Amino acid sequence: MSEQNRQCSDTGCDKTSCENCDHANTATNFSAPLHEMSTVKKVIGIVSGKGGVGKSIVTSLLAAAMQKAGKKTAVLDADITGPSIPKAFGLHGKANATEIGLLPMQTTSGIEIISTNLLLNNETDPVVWRGPIIAGTVKQFWSDVIWTDIEYMFIDMPPGTGDVPLTVFQSLPVDAIIIVTSPQELVSMIVGKAVKMAAMMQIPILGLIENYSYFQCPDNGKKYHIFGPSHLQAAADAYGLKILAELPIDPDLAAACDSGNIENYQTNILDNVINLLKNMK
Ligand SMILES: Nc1ncnc2c1ncn2[C@@H]1O[C@H](COP(=O)(O)OP(=O)(O)O)[C@@H](O)[C@H]1O
Ligand SMILES: [Mg+2]
Repeated sequence: MSEQNRQCSDTGCDKTSCENCDHANTATNFSAPLHEMSTVKKVIGIVSGKGGVGKSIVTSLLAAAMQKAGKKTAVLDADITGPSIPKAFGLHGKANATEIGLLPMQTTSGIEIISTNLLLNNETDPVVWRGPIIAGTVKQFWSDVIWTDIEYMFIDMPPGTGDVPLTVFQSLPVDAIIIVTSPQELVSMIVGKAVKMAAMMQIPILGLIENYSYFQCPDNGKKYHIFGPSHLQAAADAYGLKILAELPIDPDLAAACDSGNIENYQTNILDNVINLLKNMK
């Protein structure tokens, strides 16, 4: 490799002044500043290559479990046009804006949340904005909101690898991501896209969570693989990723989400993930 083509990860440069790598003359600093009154220690992105796999449910369950584990938790709902976090926690109405900044809304257990649905006059109003405005809103959720003493912030991403995930990865100090998948053959390809994007952005991947893994019959306790056999292990092996959890299809979970009671849903399926996050450096 020539000196000129060396990547910054090789040189350890600060991406602005290194003379030995590609960034030398072209580097732009996209990072968004945190509000001066905010403290956020760890930022975890929840991503997937496609919609409807259960990203928002996993984000909500992780946030509820982390808050229950005694860590001050926040959710930044980066799904600007399809926000579903407030509803899962039973939050309605508008977040308070002051001269100094925007205040997140608090759930029953004290999780701090910001979402476009907490800014609209009517929660059924559509967000019909163009890409740059949407991406700008995500940055504002980081910079203009007063996040008080947050130990863990979970970011619920929109599906795919478009404008908003790119903005989040470039502008916010994401410590790690968790990829949510479903048990279908497409999984490997979809996981592959998320893995490659994370690699491009040099963000560590904590592992995979599979949703809709099976249905456990309450009558006989048997597990039924409704979507066929899982391809999770193969996808995990192919990309050298850890399987963090497998979430069953559970009508009680859907009901808890629909009624805004996700914090009262009892499960220990994500305990390992919470321990892993608590032990993160
Ligand atoms: N494991 C599950 N069991 C039952 N219903 C689920 C489960 N996971 C997701 N759902 C339902 O499917 C819908 C889509 O999930 P959601 O988390 O909003 O997906 P995404 O954020 O990836 O688009 C939700 O309305 C939720 O109620
Ligand atoms: Mg969602």
